Parts: sequence; structure tokens; C-alpha cells
Amino acid sequence: MAYSQIIVDIKGGVGVIRLDRPESLNALCAELLVELREALDTLEADDNIGAIVLTGSKKAFAAGADIKEMKSKTFIDVYMDDFFADTEQRISSCRKPIIAAVAGYALGGGCEIAMLCDFILAADNAQFGQPEIKLGTIPGVGGTQRLTRFVGKSKAMEMCLTGRMMGAEEAERAGLVSRIVPVDDLVDEAIKVAGEIADLSRPIVTMAKESVNKSYETTLREGIMFERRLFHSTFATEDQKEGMAAFAEKRTPEFKNR
Ligand code: CAA
Repeated sequence: MAYSQIIVDIKGGVGVIRLDRPESLNALCAELLVELREALDTLEADDNIGAIVLTGSKKAFAAGADIKEMKSKTFIDVYMDDFFADTEQRISSCRKPIIAAVAGYALGGGCEIAMLCDFILAADNAQFGQPEIKLGTIPGVGGTQRLTRFVGKSKAMEMCLTGRMMGAEEAERAGLVSRIVPVDDLVDEAIKVAGEIADLSRPIVTMAKESVNKSYETTLREGIMFERRLFHSTFATEDQKEGMAAFAEKRTPEFKNR
């Protein structure tokens, strides 16, 4: 499909989705969100794609939900539409790894969408925040829940109660981002990392992602049991045999996704 709010590129085994509404700092309007969900559907269904990069511009990953579009919505509008539920569910149910490459502002729904991805690579100019409180509302795409799990209660509470932004270094110290990359290198680095993941065994990558995500949804004992059973089941795959044989034979493995 032809997109007007995003740009989708294929780089080898990597699908790159770039949010592209520069006039509003990639504010998340309804049309952009429809396109984002459709792009994820397409990339997820494409067997040539092993990982996805979600990015914005150097100035903004996304400055949040589109305030001008949503300002006159009523309670009944947002409740009956289950506003933002479809996007939250679409990203969180994606089985392929998604890397958020965040430069500039990641605010409100922008910060929440970055946190819905599997990990965040931050440019040195990245700014994260949940400023909804200043608009008379609260985060609505998981911000109060995920930010608290990722950076702890004190920092999450301060950010949600004051709207204070957190720069890249603070975000890395707090564990919100995996690492910081110079802004000019960000997208290339994210594509490189995604390409490395795409070259690995797809079923094993899927198991690793499922297992890490399980830790957010269960007790430690149940999570360890889940991990152990998945670990055991990797031994039923050809790719585990190939990966370990290649190590022993000092060669590069050739995974067949089987
Ligand atoms: N919605 C709609 N338009 C937005 C926007 C948003 N979230 N963020 C920025 N824009 C628009 C601005 O209105 C402006 O448009 P005009 O040129 O037509 O006036 C354009 O983008 C550029 O923005 P600024 O002139 O404000 O740029 P700046 O560099 O001075 O400031 C900023 C940048 C600090 C990010 C500022 O734009 C800002 O505070 N934006 C709003 C951030 C925000 O509150 N986000 C949370 C939204 S609510 C939400 O997301 C709820 C949820 O959980 C789902």
C-alpha cells in the first residue's frame, strides 16, 4: 500500500519504518497509526524480514498523540473507540523483534511506542518524557506501567507527575535505552543490529523474545520454568544442531529457520 505518513524501506532482512510527519514532529494522528499498524502487518507476514526498525527524524521520534486531533474528543468517543488500544496491541503482539531508533523527542505516546518496541537505541540528542499531565490528562499507551517497570517508581513518578524530560544519558543510566549512538549514525547502527538479528535463527530469536517478555508478565519461578522449557525445545530444532556444530567446527553457522 502507498503510505503518506510513514516511509517503509526494506534493507536486506530488515524492514525500516520511518514516521514521516515533520510538520508536527511526527505527532501520532489516526492516519499515521493506521499506516503503522498496516506496515507491521505487512512486515510481519513477509518471510524475508527477520527484524524491524522503527524510527522518526533527527528532531523527533514522535512528539506524542496528535493533540490538535484529539482535543475535542469526548469520553464516549475515546472509551467506545478504545482509543490507542489497537496500536498498543499491534506492537506488543508483534513476534518479530522491533528496535526503536530514537532521536530527538519521544514524548507521550511517542515514548510509549518506543517502550513497546523490544529495545531502544537512543541518539545522543534523544529526549524522553510523559508530559500528558501538563495537558490535563495522563499517559494512555502504557506509559505509567512500562516506564515504571523500566526505570523504577521514583523516576517514573517524577516524570509522570511533572512532565520532566529525560535526556539520553539519564535514560541509559536508568535502563530505559540499551545504549547511545551519535545522532548521525543512529539509523545505520539500528539497521546493522537488526540485520545481525535477522541473520540468526528466526524460531530461536522468537523464543528468546517471548522468554524475555514473559518476565514482565509472570512470577520469577513461572518465568524460569517457561524459559527452561523453551531452552529445552531449542534442542528439537535443526538450528541448535547447526549452531553448536558450527562452533565446534570453527565455521559460521548456516541457519535454516527449522
Ligand atoms: N500534537 C500535535 N501537534 C504537535 C505535537 C503534538 N503532540 N507536538 C508538536 N506539534 C506541532 C506543533 O503544534 C507545531 O505545529 P505548528 O508549527 O503548526 O504550530 C509543530 O509541531 C512544531 O512544534 P513546536 O513549534 O512546538 O516545536 P518546539 O521545538 O518549539 O517544541 C516540543 C517541541 C517540546 C516537542 C513541543 O512541540 C511539545 O511540547 N509538543 C507536545 C508534546 C506532548 O505534550 N506530547 C504528549 C501528547 S498526549 C499523549 O501522547 C497521550 C498518550 O499517552 C497517548
